[in-house]
Amino acid sequence: MHQGRVFTTGAGPVQLSQHQIAERIVELGEQIRADHEGQDLHLICVLNGAFVFMADLVRAIDMPLTIDFLAVSSYGSDTKTSGEVKLVKDLDLSLAGKHVILVEDIVDTGLTMKYLLGYLEGRNPASVKVASLLSKPSRRRVEVQVDYLGFTIDDAFVYGYGLDVDHHFRNLPFVTSQKPD
Ligand code: IMP
Ligand code: MG
Repeated sequence: MHQGRVFTTGAGPVQLSQHQIAERIVELGEQIRADHEGQDLHLICVLNGAFVFMADLVRAIDMPLTIDFLAVSSYGSDTKTSGEVKLVKDLDLSLAGKHVILVEDIVDTGLTMKYLLGYLEGRNPASVKVASLLSKPSRRRVEVQVDYLGFTIDDAFVYGYGLDVDHHFRNLPFVTSQKPD
């Protein structure tokens, strides 16, 4: 694990190239700009997974904007069923009057997103929308609206481009997946 190269694709069904991702982000950035002309736009990155997507997305939005970060971690091992999320890094900036876009890496069951949307709504933003690089609709347990979605994918464990496997592989410049067992 601590030597050699890692920029190799996995054997799973989901593969998104660097080029595909870059092209899609240019489209999303333009869509976000067009939807928020004249508004006080504020993007919030959900650490850690969304950091690469966030970095590329903000550089595709050609208008004034501000950014902030929050970090969440799971409560114990049954987060997937309880949806309980612990905020381990809170926002630094106020949301009052701002048009907020929450930036996520992937919406899977939707539980994390639902929790975060509730949290943000309580801080008086002018509006809250969601941008996610990926979505696995077949896994959804609660309905959440993704306003700006990069790609809909099949149910496979994906990694790269910010998403990790046991804290590794976040640095892959593309998204790849493991072969389902
Ligand atoms: P949800 O609460 O089930 O929607 O889970 C969302 C979080 O689980 C994401 O922000 C990711 O951190 C993680 N996650 C879900 N699916 C994957 C995956 O295929 N690869 C890596 N992380 C994932
Ligand atoms: Mg995440």
